[in-house]
Amino acid sequence: MTGVHCHSSAIKQRAHHAHQVFHSKPGWFNPQFRGLWSGRLWITFQAEHRPFVIQEANGIKHCSKATYMEVVIRPNAEAATDLVARVIARELRDHPRLVLGLATGRTMESVYARLVQMHREARLDFSGCHTFNLDEYVGLPGSHRNSYRHYMNHHLFLNVNVDLRNTHLPDGAAADIEAECQRYEKLLVRCGGIDLQLLGIGLAGHLGFNEPVSSLRSRTRIKVLSPVTRAQNEPLFAAPDAMPRRAITMGVGTILDARRCLLLATGEDKAEIVARAIEGPVTSMISATALQFHPHCAVVLDEAAASCLQEADYYRWIFENEPQWESYRNELDGADLDGHPVNPVGRKKEAAPALDGG
Ligand code: GLP
Repeated sequence: MTGVHCHSSAIKQRAHHAHQVFHSKPGWFNPQFRGLWSGRLWITFQAEHRPFVIQEANGIKHCSKATYMEVVIRPNAEAATDLVARVIARELRDHPRLVLGLATGRTMESVYARLVQMHREARLDFSGCHTFNLDEYVGLPGSHRNSYRHYMNHHLFLNVNVDLRNTHLPDGAAADIEAECQRYEKLLVRCGGIDLQLLGIGLAGHLGFNEPVSSLRSRTRIKVLSPVTRAQNEPLFAAPDAMPRRAITMGVGTILDARRCLLLATGEDKAEIVARAIEGPVTSMISATALQFHPHCAVVLDEAAASCLQEADYYRWIFENEPQWESYRNELDGADLDGHPVNPVGRKKEAAPALDGG
C-alpha cells in the first residue's frame, strides 16, 4: 500500500476495545454498560439479548433492535457496490413508500447505475418512494452541471420511475439559505423521517458536507468546505475557482435520526479515514465517527478501503458466521435482479431473516 499511513497507535489501542460502542443519548434506552474509558461511555450488550432501543427522531418515536455496527468487507469495489444496491432494492421492494436518503460522489455513481439496471431489467419500482439528498452547493441552481440536483437527475432520477416531485435536495440557489435549511428539516419531518440513508465518506471524514468541527447534534445548515474537500472535489469543476466555498448539508444529528444507515467506501485512498471513522475515537473532527452512535448502521467496504482496519479479520468472521448476517450473505451468494436467491453452490440457503438482524 502506498501513501496511506495506517495503524496509528491510537487506532490500534481503541480498536482493541471496540467490539461495540454505544452512546447514552436522551430518549435511548440501553440496558447494559461496562465502563467509562478515556472519557467515553462504552456500552456493550450481549448479542443474544439484542435489546430494543427507543429512538425519538423529530418527534417520531420508533423502536428498532440494537445491533452492532455492521462492517462488511467485499473483495472488490464491484462486489461492494452490488451489495449496497441490492440492500436498497430489497428495502424498496419491502417498503414501496420508502423514504430514501441519498448521497453523491464518484463512489455512488456505480450504485445508481446498478439501481437503474435493476429498474430496467427487473422492474424495480421507485414510483412510491421519496428521496432526500444530503447536501447541495450554495450558489448553484439545479440546472448547473456541478449541482447535486443535476448529478441526481443524471445518474438516477431521470432513469427510473421516481416522481420528480418526490425527490428533494436543499436549494443551493435559495435567496434565504437559513430559511431553506429550516424548510428542508421540516419537510423531512413531514415525510416521516428517513428510513434508509445511503452515505459515502469524503477524505476529510465527512458525511454529507459535515466538515471538521461539525457538532454531532447539528441539523441542516450551511458549512464552509474544508481544504481537503475542496482538493477532492475541485477537479469536477471547470476551474478551481468555480467550486463554491460553502454548501448546505444535513447535520450530523439529522443523519443520525435516519432509521438505518448504509455507508459505502471503496479504494485505497479511503482506507485510513475509514479506519478512523469505524475504530477511532468519536470526534466532531471526523463526522463519520458519529455513526458509532447509530443503532443500525452497516459499513460496506472493498478490501482496499478496509486495508487499515485493525479488526478486519474479526469483522470477516462475524460476517461469515453470525446468523444476523444471513440476509447479507444471501445478497452476496447471488440473486437475480429481482432479489430471488439463485441457489448458490456450497452454501445452505435459508429463508432470509429481516435485514435488521432479527
Ligand atoms: C461529496 C459528498 C459526500 C460524499 C463524498 C464522497 O463530498 N458531499 O456526501 O461522501 O463526496 O465522494 P467520492 O465518492 O467521490 O469519494
